[in-house]
Amino acid sequence: MIPSTSSRASRPQLLTPDAIRSGLKTERFGRTLHLYDRIESTNAVALALAEQGADEGTVILADSQTQGRGRMGRHWISPPDRNLYVSIVLRPDGDPTRVGLWPLAAAVAVARTIEQTTALPARLKWPNDILVHGKKVSGLLLESAIRNGRFKHLVLGIGLNVNLTRDLLPDSLRNSVTSLREELGRELDRVELLQRLLEQLERQHQSFRTEPPRKILEAYRALSETLGRSVTVLDRAGEWTGEAVGLTPEGALILRKNGREEVIIRSEDVVHVRPSHAARD
Ligand code: BTN
Repeated sequence: MIPSTSSRASRPQLLTPDAIRSGLKTERFGRTLHLYDRIESTNAVALALAEQGADEGTVILADSQTQGRGRMGRHWISPPDRNLYVSIVLRPDGDPTRVGLWPLAAAVAVARTIEQTTALPARLKWPNDILVHGKKVSGLLLESAIRNGRFKHLVLGIGLNVNLTRDLLPDSLRNSVTSLREELGRELDRVELLQRLLEQLERQHQSFRTEPPRKILEAYRALSETLGRSVTVLDRAGEWTGEAVGLTPEGALILRKNGREEVIIRSEDVVHVRPSHAARD
């Protein structure tokens, strides 16, 4: 998308490739950038580009999405001029168990970006919702292509509510969803947030190569809102409650049920995990 001067004047918050690249301190993440004014879903485009051989670190960004995808087939609200909708192509090699840690590593990167740019306290609700003051401000959707039992590529999609205002949310989400602007009381620069986010993600990518997986888990634990709490889970077995007591090395959640039995839950198996007695998400 190359915006005309007039459209930029009437939309001061417009994202442009030049603005994004100047001041971006990454080696690979965002160096190839596809920017769209309006598309169905950045994840869908990223998956297609990855299939055609796009390099690792290729970024697909849209100002708005018509069919933003959330977890569990949910819709991601994606109005123009407000938020960040970004997908990144990843090409993990080696140990497939480490791939399962990407959602956690990416959630840490988003939380650190928020703290670095706004000083708001960001916390993580397992598996990868990012909360500010108890409300969801960002969500991640990891999609993958597998060939012969190995990950061929991954696409990490991130939706971050930056300047979204409450009036754009349906009533049903107003108690559980927020934006950085709502929590901070002022507008934020999406370009700066995106630059810092790509830098944080690249840092996590490095740590996959250079550090043991427990480092990622430690970083995640330190920001977790879920661990140590009683949570209600909705899965195929119905709704039940347990205490979140830990994470497996692959990033699955360990819950203690009825004070004794330990149950491991994986993100793909659960519809929601929420603090007991909290509002439904
Ligand atoms: C969730 O349900 O919490 C995950 C939401 C992920 C939304 C992002 S927006 C950019 C990327 N493109 C999509 O279609 N979805 C992800």
